Amino acid sequence: MFHANSKVTSAGPRFDLAAEAARLGALHETLPHELWAETPLPPGADALRGISSLSVGEAVLGRMSPRAGLTPTSTSMDTLSGLLFAAAGVTHDETAAGYSRPFRATPSGGGLYPLEVFALANRVDGVAPGLYHYDPTSHVLRGNPDSQAAERLANTFVQPDYVQNAAIMFLLTALFERATVKYGARGYRFTLLEAGHMAQNINLAAVGAGLAAQNLGGFLDDRLDREMDFDGLLQSTVYCVAVGAAA
Ligand SMILES: Cc1cc2nc3c(=O)[nH]c(=O)nc-3n(C[C@H](O)[C@H](O)[C@H](O)COP(=O)(O)O)c2cc1C
Repeated sequence: MFHANSKVTSAGPRFDLAAEAARLGALHETLPHELWAETPLPPGADALRGISSLSVGEAVLGRMSPRAGLTPTSTSMDTLSGLLFAAAGVTHDETAAGYSRPFRATPSGGGLYPLEVFALANRVDGVAPGLYHYDPTSHVLRGNPDSQAAERLANTFVQPDYVQNAAIMFLLTALFERATVKYGARGYRFTLLEAGHMAQNINLAAVGAGLAAQNLGGFLDDRLDREMDFDGLLQSTVYCVAVGAAA
């Protein structure tokens, strides 16, 4: 039913670009979290280049889920920075040409960027363990150290070990309105597709950096969203990627 209801037909939708621009102007480009402590990151593009030791082809061929799980290992701030940049970093800005948002490493239907990335930093040299929000516009993390965050989040997953043993777990979360304001129900489809793009970029960049990536759709939505302080409707976690060393 949802698929049928979210089809584009010859009857529409018709886009009202002025209304869309006005609505987008009223929405944050990324969640502000201005009162949270800020953790600067090494420059994203340089970090991504620096950690990438494989060609794209070799990374595609090397990507596989770590079947025996992840084993706890520390990683560097460059890795954290490079993977965040691969997920959502700002790569090109054409706002002067009339586009409402700077463009990012992963594509987004209409350039509306409904996804927000959070990183559970479990074992990153130079970053106190905790759950952090990634601000792509200034390439910083925001959040307070929280040594209990991994345990709290792990308890909301079907396979808690991946969360506990990851060096970093990325939570791809959606503010659906940014997409549905233009595309209606189809914007929901786009948001999920975009999570796939983002996860794949993280996967390939992780493999390129000599790490394994485990994609995780097995979480208890309501419990995880409660831990994340999301209402589970307007904002919800849609997909996660645990990155670390294969056991
Ligand atoms: C949308 C999606 C959700 C997934 N969720 C889980 C999960 O919760 N737990 C898990 O162990 N694997 C999960 N996986 C990983 C798949 O089981 C895995 O990709 C599949 O077995 C193919 O193996 P490969 O990744 O090594 O190619 C997920 C994969 C996708 C694409």
